[in-house]
Amino acid sequence: MDLENDLLLRAARGEQIERYPVWLMRQAGRILPEYRAVRGELSGFKELVETPERAAEVTVQPVDLLGVDAAIIFSDILVVPEAMGLEYQMIEKKGPWFEKTIRSEEALKFAQTNFDVEDRLGYVTEAIRLTNKELNGRVPLIGFAGAPWTIFCYMTEGQGSKTFSESRKILYTNPTLAHELLNRITDVTIQYLKAQISAGVHLVQVFDSWAGILGKEQYAEFGLKYMEKIANAISEVPVTLFAKGAYNSMVDLSNLKCNTVGVDWNMRMDEIRGHVGESRTLQGNLDPCVLYGTHSEVEKETNNMLHSFRSRRHIVNLGHGVYPDVDPEKVKTFIKTVKSYEIQY
Ligand code: CP3
Repeated sequence: MDLENDLLLRAARGEQIERYPVWLMRQAGRILPEYRAVRGELSGFKELVETPERAAEVTVQPVDLLGVDAAIIFSDILVVPEAMGLEYQMIEKKGPWFEKTIRSEEALKFAQTNFDVEDRLGYVTEAIRLTNKELNGRVPLIGFAGAPWTIFCYMTEGQGSKTFSESRKILYTNPTLAHELLNRITDVTIQYLKAQISAGVHLVQVFDSWAGILGKEQYAEFGLKYMEKIANAISEVPVTLFAKGAYNSMVDLSNLKCNTVGVDWNMRMDEIRGHVGESRTLQGNLDPCVLYGTHSEVEKETNNMLHSFRSRRHIVNLGHGVYPDVDPEKVKTFIKTVKSYEIQY
């Protein structure tokens, strides 16, 4: 189906655009009272993720209510470890929690690869098909997965952490196990992204949320290597790679076979552009905390960010996911400011 608004895809491919496209990481979620209402009718986050009709409904909400230029399928990166055999719970106000972890060869039985992703993750592909029906070509739909390194962190640590020291410990004590697990995650992730593409997503983003906790050499060995495998395997749709905190690896990341590189708010857009050149689109990078300011502060900071762009090749986003207690009206001001900005290149 032809898209009415394909700005995101043109920007990703470096084609002509009349203005910068804008969407927000975590736009489908708790900032919207309409999302909380749907979630309140169900037993919790996981039921919402696993019920395609409702997941489709909350995926479309930010398109209707905020006017973003793309939808992102409502799901979570943790559905992949679960499909591999490690079940998770999402604990209110605490985050994800896994009963079992993988810290030995023995435990690799909970990291399966030889299953059909449609069998175990069919609820996601069904949600994609339903979402596209509801969107009816208004905007592109983004699919996603966690990067192998970030999924490795959750499978080994078993929960969120400030340091992920259990995960990093394994890189020193048992690098063979680490590579075996990373390879397995990579295999499943490629199949999973391809299933999302077959179901109809127009672009895929790989989230490496914990890239920033590794040094440059270690990230090259345990992170980028597997990002590369994924990037090389996907040629059907544009690919976005987001490695949060990986300032030292931005050039190596941008040299992978991708269209777009995500930039977090710790980095200066003009600096990153200087390193990366014009062959990639950059996505980001407003500090999510700017949205706690007044409307005029949001407008000012958003314009400052837009002025720091040195190219047409941009997709506007925050530098990380939007925080749950942000006023949606501030998000609308951010979006309005981007939409009324005239590109100078
Ligand atoms: O961006 C979107 O709107 C699409 C949906 C989406 C969710 N999670 C929904 C969600 C996406 C793209 C993700 C990705 C994700 N999940 C990442 C990578 C991006 C990032 O933030 O770094 C990570 C690390 C996770 C794992 C995860 N999921 C954590 C650590 C948590 C708990 C923290 C939190 O924000 O509550 C989640 C829960 C989660 N995933 C929620 C949502 C809307 C909140 C659950 C709720 O409704 O209460």
